[in-house]
Amino acid sequence: MNTAPALSLRNIYKSFGGIVAVEDLSLDVKRGEIVALVGDNGAGKSTVVKIITGMYQPSSGEIRLAGEPVHFIDASQSQSKGVQVVYQDLALAESQPVYMNLFLGREKTKGWFGKLDRTGMIAETEELMRELNVRIPSPKSTIRKLSGGQRQAVAIARATHWATNLVLMDEPTAALGVTETSKAEDIISGLKARDLAILIVSHSLDQVFRLSDQICVLRRGKQIGVRQTKQTDKNEIVSMITGLHASSR
Ligand SMILES: Nc1ncnc2c1ncn2[C@@H]1O[C@H](COP(=O)(O)OP(=O)(O)OP(=O)(O)O)[C@@H](O)[C@H]1O
Ligand SMILES: [Mg+2]
Repeated sequence: MNTAPALSLRNIYKSFGGIVAVEDLSLDVKRGEIVALVGDNGAGKSTVVKIITGMYQPSSGEIRLAGEPVHFIDASQSQSKGVQVVYQDLALAESQPVYMNLFLGREKTKGWFGKLDRTGMIAETEELMRELNVRIPSPKSTIRKLSGGQRQAVAIARATHWATNLVLMDEPTAALGVTETSKAEDIISGLKARDLAILIVSHSLDQVFRLSDQICVLRRGKQIGVRQTKQTDKNEIVSMITGLHASSR
C-alpha cells in the first residue's frame, strides 16, 4: 500500500515578475484529512491552489501526488491524476440539467453510435446525491432553477465524483448564506469518509475550526506555520495571519 501523502508540496516558490506570491511552502495532505490554508488577502492562497492544479507552474519546488513527482502544465493533466477543484464562483452550465453538469465533458454513452446514456447518468447522479445527502428537486432540474447552495452542492458533488486523490476548494462557501454554508460544510466533512485528501482555502476561521484537521498559515507568501486544529485556537491563528500578538484582554 502506498503510504505517501496524497499531496506533498516541497519548497514551493512562485513569483510573478518582481512579486513573490509564494515563498518556500512545504505541506502534506493525507487521505481522509482536511487541511485549511488561511491568510489575508493577497497572502498567496489561490496561487497555491492554481499551482497544484497546473494552471500555474511553480518557479521552483516540488509537487508530489501519492509520492510521485508531477509537473502539470495545465488543469486537464491534474484532473487525469484525480485532482479536482471547487471555486467560489460556480463553474456550472446554467441551462443544462444537474446530471449533464455532473458529466460535463465526460458524458456516458451507449451503443454503437455513441448515443447519450441519459438513464445511466441520471441514475448515477441520484445515487451520488443520496450518498452525499444533497437535496435537489431532481437530477433533471436545470441549474438555473437551483438555489446558490444547491448549485454549490452540485459543484462539490461533481468534484467528488471525479476526484480519486485530492479535492481543492478555494472559498467554496464565500457566496452562500448561513444555512447553505452549514449544509455545504456537512457535505465537505463527509468527503473525509470517502478517503479523499482535501485542501480548503477559507477566510472564515469559524469554518476552518469546524472542518479542518490542520491549519497552514500564509502571510504575504511566507509560510508562517502549520498547526493541528485541536492544538491551537483562533487567537493564535489570527496572530499568525496578521503578525500581531493577540491581545491578552
Ligand atoms: N497571475 C498573476 N500575475 C501577477 N500577480 C499575481 C497573479 N496571481 C496572483 N498574483 C499576486 O500574487 C499575490 C497572491 O495572490 P493570491 O491570489 O494567491 O492571494 P490570496 O491569498 O488568494 O488572496 P485573496 O484572499 O484575496 O483571494 C498577490 O500579490 C497577487 O497580486
Ligand atoms: Mg484567493
